[in-house]
Amino acid sequence: MRLILLGPPGAGKGTQAAFITEKFGIPQISTGDMLRAAVKAQSPLGVEAKKIMDAGGLVSDDIIIGLVRDRLKEADCEPGYLFDGFPRTIPQADALKDAQVKLDFVIEIDVPEESIIERMSGRRIHAASGRSYHVTFNPPKTPGVDDVTGEPLLQRDDDREETVRHRLSVYREQTRPLVDYYSQWSATGDPHAPAYRKISGVGSVDEIRQRILDALAS
Ligand code: AP5
Ligand code: ZN
Repeated sequence: MRLILLGPPGAGKGTQAAFITEKFGIPQISTGDMLRAAVKAQSPLGVEAKKIMDAGGLVSDDIIIGLVRDRLKEADCEPGYLFDGFPRTIPQADALKDAQVKLDFVIEIDVPEESIIERMSGRRIHAASGRSYHVTFNPPKTPGVDDVTGEPLLQRDDDREETVRHRLSVYREQTRPLVDYYSQWSATGDPHAPAYRKISGVGSVDEIRQRILDALAS
């Protein structure tokens, strides 16, 4: 299984990625998680990326494309992969196409902007794995603690309301054009084009999981 989860910040890409990767035995390639790991390691990339991420902007296409290209060479990508938060610009999507990276599905998770601020303000993450929780909508078994490792949960630095609003405008301008990019490519009947499926991301985590399963089976 080779797929892209496409959707705005807070759509639930990371939340749903957890179950899809487990079900299909494929890795999650989250450029956001990769960048947060670089920030934590204080590598030169991390130091540069932190400023951009905290402001809600996008890291340069060249850097991101290089990161993904290296990641795809790793052996665990052999059975497939799930892209979360990538591609996010037309040049990133073109880079995948030019490299003939195979894709079976693009799943668009559609969530209205009103719901997003609420989701972000209650989000808590487990930094090492990227696992995502919500204090009300998807709480951990023990408040403030990761279900799997028992380690403490943190708030993301870019989840302040002002930054989230900026991330949403960046999404509208730079990432939403990928909706047309992939849906139109899919409609051409090109055998290399991924199937395009749009699902509503409003509802419980379990309901959305079922919608994704149905979409992948159709
Ligand atoms: P990234 O980490 O990719 O952030 P994002 O795309 O903004 O998406 P989020 O992680 O915020 O949302 P999500 O859809 O994963 O939602 P989640 O499942 O956590 O990128 C961060 C930054 O890195 C970017 O701003 C940029 O600077 C840089 N970057 C990354 N990739 C890049 C690229 N390719 N190019 C350039 N720059 C890049 O859910 C959100 C919350 O909602 C959680 O609290 C969750 O528990 C809750 N929730 C989930 N499902 C539901 C539900 N059904 N109902 C209620 N609440 C729910
Ligand atoms: Zn995420």
